[in-house]
This record gives sequence, C-alpha cells and structure tokens, in this order.
Amino acid sequence: MMRTRIAGTGRAVPDKVLTNDDLSKLVETSDEWIRERTGIRERRILEEGRSTSDLAAEAGRRACATAEIDPKELDCIIVATISPDMPMPAVAVTVQQKIGAGTCAAFDVSAACAGFIYGMSIADAFIKNGQFQRVLVIGVEILSRVLDWTDRNTCVLFGDGAGAAVLMASPASEGRGILSTHLFADGSGMPLLNIPAGGSMEPASAKSVEAGRHFVKMQGKPVFTNAVKNISRAAQIALESNGKSPADVDWVVAHQANLRILEAVAERVAVPIEKFYLNIHKYGNTSSASIPIALDEAAHEGKIKPGELILMAALGAGLSWGSALVRF
Ligand code: UT7
Repeated sequence: MMRTRIAGTGRAVPDKVLTNDDLSKLVETSDEWIRERTGIRERRILEEGRSTSDLAAEAGRRACATAEIDPKELDCIIVATISPDMPMPAVAVTVQQKIGAGTCAAFDVSAACAGFIYGMSIADAFIKNGQFQRVLVIGVEILSRVLDWTDRNTCVLFGDGAGAAVLMASPASEGRGILSTHLFADGSGMPLLNIPAGGSMEPASAKSVEAGRHFVKMQGKPVFTNAVKNISRAAQIALESNGKSPADVDWVVAHQANLRILEAVAERVAVPIEKFYLNIHKYGNTSSASIPIALDEAAHEGKIKPGELILMAALGAGLSWGSALVRF
C-alpha cells in the first residue's frame, strides 16, 4: 500500500510590506481596528511587472529543492488559485515552463481559500491510484490585483503570497503522509464572496470596470459564521475518521483569515490555540497560499517536526471548505 508523503515545502512572499498604518492613509480605518478585529498587522504586495506564475514558480522551485528532486522528475503540477495570470490557460502550464519541468500534466484548481486542501486531495488520489508518483501542489494568490483599494471591508484583509509542497508516493509502512482529506462545498453561499464581473455572466466592459465589479466583494459576517462552524466540523471529521482525539494533534495549520475565527475553532475542536501555527499578523489572508506558506514557515523554523500529526482546515469562497490529517 502506498501513501502520499509531503516530501518538501517552499514559499515565496513579495518583499514589499503594506502596514495597517499605510492602509489608514487609503481608507477610513485604523491599525487598532484591523488588529483587534482580524489579528493582521501587515501584508505583502507584489511589485508591478511580476505576476501569479512568478511567485508560484519561486515557491515551487524551493519545494522541489527541499524534496531533493529535479522539476523534470515531476509527473503533475496543480496550482490552486483564484487570481491567475490570465483567464486562460492555467497558471500551472506557465509554472511548468518557468521551473523547467517536462511535459507533465499541469492544471489549476479553483476552490478559493480551500484550494490548497483541494489540490492536495487530488494529488493524493493520483498518487494512491498509481497514476503519478511526484506531484507539485502550489497555492498562490496575488489578491492585491483584484481588490478595491477604496473598500475598507475587503482591502484591509488580504495579501499576496505563494506556498508549495511536493507530494510523493511512499510506502504506507513508513507511517508518514496524508492520512485522509475531506472536501465540502455549498454553492448557496456563492453570493457571500465573489468577483462578480469578468466572466461569462458579466463580461468585462467599461461599465463593469467603472463600477468596480471585477473586484472582490464580501459579506464578512456570514462568511465568518460559516467559517467557524464548517472549519470546526471538518477538523472534527478528520480526527474522527482516523480514530484520533484532539490531544493527538501536534499542530493545527489552518487557513489564516481571521485570528478570531481560529480562536473560535480552537475552542470548538478542543485543541489549544498554542497548537495553531499563526502568521496572519505578517501576511493577512493569502487565500489558497495561506496553508502552504504556514506549513513551510513552521517546518523551516523547526516547529513542525517529521512524524508529528498536523491537522489542516480551510474555508473560502464557494463556499468551499475542507480538512486534512497528515503525519508530517
Ligand atoms: O478567507 C475566507 C473568507 N474570509 C473570511 O473568512 C473573512 C470572514 N469575516 C471576517 O473576518 C469579519 O467579518 C471582518 C473582519 C471582515 C469584519 O469584522 P466584523 O467584526 O464582522 O465587523 P463588521 O463587518 O460587522 O463591521 C463592524 C463595524 C462596522 O461599523 P458599524 O456599522 O458598526 O458602524 C463597519 O462599517 O466596523 C466597520 N468596519 C471598519 N472599521 C474600520 C468595517 N471594516 C472596517 C475597517 N476599519 N477596515
């Protein structure tokens, strides 16, 4: 029996830092409000002239280096993103070229903040059924390009970044790897968080641009409530499916959307907040990139060690959500 192991991780975040004080010069907000309501202190913004595939390729290259494989050995590249270089083709094919992979399979996954867990789950299925042995999964967002910088309800929350993991087949007898993944969606939540224009429903036009319809729109409160409920339930399902208790968990690497969401999840799942790896203060909400950035940081800081039990969970636009339990 084969299992899917996380063989290496990598991340890439832009150098440019945008602080809460910087934002208070753009919209009516304050460092105090943003810190107290979200836990965010600053976020990274990609410089002009670079795009989603640049950051994704950087993170992907680093994950390959950590996994000690040449990108040419990859069988598949999956990029989770809702802020691609362009509507078509997939970011993954440009990443394939930029990292010098061969003609391996390459495609994108659109599941917003849950994108990395969806991508990992697809990679796990490919590896378990024997189709692929080495899959690069990248979560990347350049949300700064799709934010309305006059809307304080959204522009203070998000940031840019990329995180990646190389997933590889490894004998189940080693005990390490993805124990299970659990994916969910509820399309009735579509109106709560979306980018209304720029697709077939509302093609880009001078009018749509003028009305800012190609920017992120969010009803924060109902998304918050759904996030607490569904992330908690998905985390519990991951534990129950593997006969594990909250005390067995070494680290929770959950989507970093709001510190208050994570505190509420910690209480519901009965895993102390001290076991949650937190970096929302530095990067804000980087959507599909948030879990792989956190995972890579935690691994490189020596916090998460090989063999430890990691619980992952996320919820975002869709609404789409999911969880994974991994023996790192
Ligand atoms: O990645 C997955 C998807 N996203 C999320 O998970 C985000 C989920 N939602 C949230 O994190 C929170 O709902 C927010 C952080 C977006 C908002 O926090 P809240 O506690 O739900 O605030 P609110 O929207 O109820 O607004 C409270 C007040 C309002 O003023 P009034 O009506 O009470 O006078 C807002 O107008 O805060 C005001 N407000 C702000 N004030 C200063 C909203 N945004 C800001 C701001 N600065 N940036």
